[in-house]
Amino acid sequence: MIAKKPPMGWNSWNTFGRDINEQLILDMARKISETGLQSAGYNYIVIDDCWSLKQRDKNGRLQPDPEKFPNGMKAVADALHEMGFKFGMYGCAGTLTCDGYPGSFDHEYVDAATFAEWGVDFLKYDYCFHSNLIHGRYLYRRMGLALKNCGRDILFSACTWGNDDTAKWIRETGANMWRSTPDVFDTWESVKKIIDAQSNILPYGGAGCFNDMDMMVVGMRGKGNVGLEGLNDDQYLLHFSVWALLGSPLFIGCDLREIDDATLNILKNKEVIAINQDAGCRQVMELHPLWAPQIKAYARYLENGDIAVGFFNLSEKEQLLRYEFEELGVQESTGKTLMLHDVWSGEEFRLENCSVWRNMKPYETLLFRCRVIDK
Ligand code: GLA
Repeated sequence: MIAKKPPMGWNSWNTFGRDINEQLILDMARKISETGLQSAGYNYIVIDDCWSLKQRDKNGRLQPDPEKFPNGMKAVADALHEMGFKFGMYGCAGTLTCDGYPGSFDHEYVDAATFAEWGVDFLKYDYCFHSNLIHGRYLYRRMGLALKNCGRDILFSACTWGNDDTAKWIRETGANMWRSTPDVFDTWESVKKIIDAQSNILPYGGAGCFNDMDMMVVGMRGKGNVGLEGLNDDQYLLHFSVWALLGSPLFIGCDLREIDDATLNILKNKEVIAINQDAGCRQVMELHPLWAPQIKAYARYLENGDIAVGFFNLSEKEQLLRYEFEELGVQESTGKTLMLHDVWSGEEFRLENCSVWRNMKPYETLLFRCRVIDK
């Protein structure tokens, strides 16, 4: 399976942690569908840790907790497939999962076969309780190979938190996405930390094996398993925009039964999703606005010749943005300039003197799709 575009969906961990069951998962799937999120592209439903019993069965197979999943995992898979979703599950490269359930170490083939039998389409594979004697690259190669030989296309989602220089070896293991940072929490500090950690690894993301910045906290509003203080709407919008522009997989983590309109407007913005899902999957460039270290800026060339350009004020203070577009290969002497289309406000304007000067409000996002035009 080649993941041609960043996978999108919903994952149970951020809000529900251990409190998961069949009913809840299917309710979430129905909500994704009813709210229009499924048609916006969110099509993987992923059950995270804590779905199994603490022991394997007599044949050494993982078994679902019958209180949480009384009809087994195949029944969940069938119901999700029926609704047009793909089904994701969770395992771990160590002897135990992060929450203490059986891990797949030395059971890679039997577990891959079990997941395939159940109709699983996606495996998040964690890194807790792994041997310190075996480097992570070998543990992920083991499961990568097992999945490739299990008879079913299963997207391999590695979750090593960026440890052990993950970026440098994860693609070789057959992984289709890889977590580049420690766990996200629903706080501004956590989101900012994840953003700050991206600069050195921008060259490593891309088609087939995407840099996963973790499940999004957009709309959690401080509730649930990783819910702490929550973010304000400007911060949630900034968070979503950076994940999208940097080409991260987009997994929703909030409780969809309580999702509000502000959150839906963020998560369903078609133009932002189109930037994330752009077929080119080009490497992201980090840009350098003048005199404003608190403004993060990135750009990505898109497949149709446009450029996606984002400016993000990460500070609680107003900042002056001054950006010269020559860095992006735009030169007026060539007879061309850009038409900037703001994908959040809809505003359009022509680039003058190859530069943009603006005051940016605290936590403001400016995300443009730029079209090359005659000067
Ligand atoms: C790790 C992962 C999280 C989540 C938990 C489950 O911390 O990074 O995303 O899967 O384990 O226990």
